[in-house]
Amino acid sequence: MAETKSQNIHFHGANVTRDEREAILGQRGCVVWLTGFSASGKSTIARRVEQLLLEQDVYTYVLDGDNLRFKLNKDLGFSATDRAENIRRVGCVAELFADSGAIVLTAFISPYRADRDAARALLPAGRFIEAFVATSLEACEARDPKGLYKKARAGEIKEFTGISDPYEAPEAAELIVNTEGKTVDESAEQVLAHLRAHGFIK
Ligand code: ADX
Repeated sequence: MAETKSQNIHFHGANVTRDEREAILGQRGCVVWLTGFSASGKSTIARRVEQLLLEQDVYTYVLDGDNLRFKLNKDLGFSATDRAENIRRVGCVAELFADSGAIVLTAFISPYRADRDAARALLPAGRFIEAFVATSLEACEARDPKGLYKKARAGEIKEFTGISDPYEAPEAAELIVNTEGKTVDESAEQVLAHLRAHGFIK
């Protein structure tokens, strides 16, 4: 959706800048974009990092694929076009939250590289951290917490990522999180270490 449909709209600049908001919060906003197969651990990691950040008084917010599909994205399915629109909307929401000063954690399969790159392009340089949750398809399918892989194998779910739909792995993710043989806290710590190393948290 490259074009803006509305006409006669004018962008209103703010009186308050992001820098001023961040000065009050004592932190810089950014987006940690978790991508990977269903059941790879994206949401679990995002929720644990959110909790650990909150314990450090860091303002943070999680945007989760399954959850947003109940409201904001309730009109979207899993075709390539719908997934692109899903990621476009989420990218915009993530950008707004980051602009408010939050450390945003997103948990979407986001299987297409072009869609993830478009979300990245919305953020200032260095503020979009692509985190590839690189759990293998075999491990995700063995976990199958919602029984979806089983259904997909039986042909009951069409266009299922990894089974009957593509997943384009990141080629230059800032962070690769391996969850196999690791605890949730170890994976969460990998994210926190990256945020620490880049000055987003202490
Ligand atoms: S995305 O591809 O558009 O980024 P999103 O992360 O919002 O996907 O939603 C993925 C979740 O929807 C999965 O974790 C799973 O619970 C559910 N789901 C239902 N159908 C599918 C499908 N065909 N492919 C992938 N996930 C699906």
